[in-house]
Amino acid sequence: MNLEGKKIVLCISGSIAAYKTPELTRQLVKSGAIVKIICTEAATRFVSPLALSTVSKNEVLSNINDGDSWNNHVELGRWADLILIAPCSANTLGKLANGLCDNLLNAVYLSATCPVVLAPAMDEDMWHHPSTRHNLKRLKSYGNTIIPVGHGELASGLVGDGRMAELSEIIQFIQTFLDPKTGQPLKGKTALVSAGPTFERLDPVRFIGNFSTGKMGIALAEELARLGAKVSLVLGPTHLRSVHPAIQTVLVESAEEMYHACDAAFAQSDITIMAAAVADYKPKNKSEQKIKKGDDALEISLIKNKDILAHLGQVKAAGQILVGFALETENEITNALQKLQKKNADFIVLNSLQDVGAGFGSDTNKVTIIAKDGSSNELPLMSKKETATAIIQTITNLH
Ligand code: CTP
Repeated sequence: MNLEGKKIVLCISGSIAAYKTPELTRQLVKSGAIVKIICTEAATRFVSPLALSTVSKNEVLSNINDGDSWNNHVELGRWADLILIAPCSANTLGKLANGLCDNLLNAVYLSATCPVVLAPAMDEDMWHHPSTRHNLKRLKSYGNTIIPVGHGELASGLVGDGRMAELSEIIQFIQTFLDPKTGQPLKGKTALVSAGPTFERLDPVRFIGNFSTGKMGIALAEELARLGAKVSLVLGPTHLRSVHPAIQTVLVESAEEMYHACDAAFAQSDITIMAAAVADYKPKNKSEQKIKKGDDALEISLIKNKDILAHLGQVKAAGQILVGFALETENEITNALQKLQKKNADFIVLNSLQDVGAGFGSDTNKVTIIAKDGSSNELPLMSKKETATAIIQTITNLH
């Protein structure tokens, strides 16, 4: 997908992430976009307007007036197919949410007749502050789209949420956003995907969990969204996220929370894939206080969690496609087929931990897709993205 001929106004505000914008501009231009740039005054302290005008091949604007001439914000706002505000600092976010108009960036935003996409960037505490939360909510309610922030090293030296999304994610987001109709055989369909691990709390500081990172489930959600489906992604505790605009992510922690989130979304879902590594058991009693060290041995009683896939299999209506995963270490095919039948799924994707390159955290996977009638499709070792494409092709019969 390219951005041939798309007119983008890139608005840069004052955040350290602004130093990445010449490369962002270069990639947008390379994809075929025509890019005009506006910098706030603070942004020009983090990035050189000369570098930006060189890569965009357009003059960089900063002020409503330059000397005696007036920069026409209405014209710019109407020229664009898309306004991308990246990085969007906490200050600019606050101004936009409140309709302030004290610089060219804000004036162009208020004059825009096209979609506006914001890629926020700020320190973790600012990102989690209630006023930032409130501003984001407000901006979304006005129809703006937010590219989720990343988790990682921040300018303060802290590690947390608030990093501007990676450039590749921003480019992918914009490409999908501006070209939503090409090759979308699942347009009009709704999908539900569970992904990641679940954590079952023992006390305020400890949990029982597993090594799943959610990578496979997120790849499936992204492939469904790329093909046009509207996707609910129910995601257990992991730092991985999807920024695809057609994916709505519901963050959960425990198997019980995952159960409720999946149950709520399932009735609307045409295609459901349960890729999460759900804890089968949870502690019988959760201690309100930290469990203190005592005798040499400690016994913890566990009780069974509800099986989400089996529950969905019971309430499934005709026409709904339900897919489970089976993670096996022995008697793989037999165990997987038993799971498919017991849980009333239409397909089961067998993941064997015997296979090198398959399993938690890796970028590759090797799976066998087994259908209700017993027919199977053994896929070679591929990236999780390619595996996702093959799984969706098989279960939706898209070839
Ligand atoms: N699953 C679920 N809810 C659970 C446990 C599992 O929805 N409480 C789903 C998983 O998301 C997966 C499938 O059931 O799609 C199989 O999970 P797996 O862990 O392989 O099998 P289990 O049924 O838990 O059986 P076992 O652990 O004994 O192999």
